[in-house]
Amino acid sequence: MSGTKKDVSDWWSTSIIDMAPGQIRMRGTPIEELIGNVSFTQMIWLMTRGGLPSEAEAQLFEAALVAAVDHGPQAPSIAAARMAITCGLGLNGAMASAVNMLDDVHGGAGEQAVELYHMISARLDAGEEVEAATSAALDHWQSTYGKFIPGFGHRFHKPEDPRAPRLLGLVDDAAQAGKVTGQFAHIGRAIQSVLNARKGKPVPMNIDGATAVIYAELGFAPPLARGLFCLSRSVGILSHAWEQMNQGGRNKGPTPPAYRWTYTGPNPIENNN
Ligand SMILES: CC(C)(COP(=O)(O)OP(=O)(O)OC[C@H]1O[C@@H](n2cnc3c(N)ncnc32)[C@H](O)[C@@H]1OP(=O)(O)O)[C@@H](O)C(=O)NCCC(=O)NCCS
Repeated sequence: MSGTKKDVSDWWSTSIIDMAPGQIRMRGTPIEELIGNVSFTQMIWLMTRGGLPSEAEAQLFEAALVAAVDHGPQAPSIAAARMAITCGLGLNGAMASAVNMLDDVHGGAGEQAVELYHMISARLDAGEEVEAATSAALDHWQSTYGKFIPGFGHRFHKPEDPRAPRLLGLVDDAAQAGKVTGQFAHIGRAIQSVLNARKGKPVPMNIDGATAVIYAELGFAPPLARGLFCLSRSVGILSHAWEQMNQGGRNKGPTPPAYRWTYTGPNPIENNN
């Protein structure tokens, strides 16, 4: 390749994909060998980190992706997708509007939980006992970021988010079979027990806490936990957007029009609705 052409090709460098006319290779493997041979879950793994997962890793990974696909129109992202469709956006615009809302507060807890689990794991590696390490990490988290521990607590699912024990059970099975270490399931449960004891009532591990256990066990970096959540939730977002498109509905706001907001400014209009 001549100097100038190389200067241009070096502008973007990637180890993900190589192409020539009639040839497409992902991480070194021709696309025609991947098509029909690897699952979509394996493909996500190959693309995001290279290599293919073992069967046990792929099963855990897929379980996490399946578990987080949807949480109904009360989830702000799903509501946003449905509202966007009634405003005339296409599926792409509705999906983008919804995914844009999956930031720190709604959708970001998985990434934060992986970070927290890593903090505790580092303390355990340094020889601290599990309860002391967990308490110290929670204290540090709360003094730095505020009282809510990511991956725990749920407004709706009390005393238990049904997804969490199922996912942890799958991690336990994989750990017993020697496929993962199980150390992050142990850490997740330690957080659960310290939190419950501190609050005097259940603060259940939620979907983000449980998928974070799996992503940590599988060695995904914390920011990828958020990206993977976006991928998973995109399935629900697309389904709701498509359903809304088929239902019709025009310019729908967040509540039926007969229900209004609470006005707190001057000269309220009395109404008996
Ligand atoms: C989801 C969430 C907003 C629900 O909060 P909530 O409506 O206050 O939950 P509850 O009413 O059940 O809270 C019960 C008590 O536990 C506390 N609590 C709830 N979640 C907590 C958490 N993650 N960490 C510490 N304390 C928590 C509440 O402050 C409350 O304490 P109080 O009785 O002294 O006021 C909250 O749990 C949260 O922000 N969790 C962390 C972020 C997260 O994981 N988000 C993903 C949700 S799927």
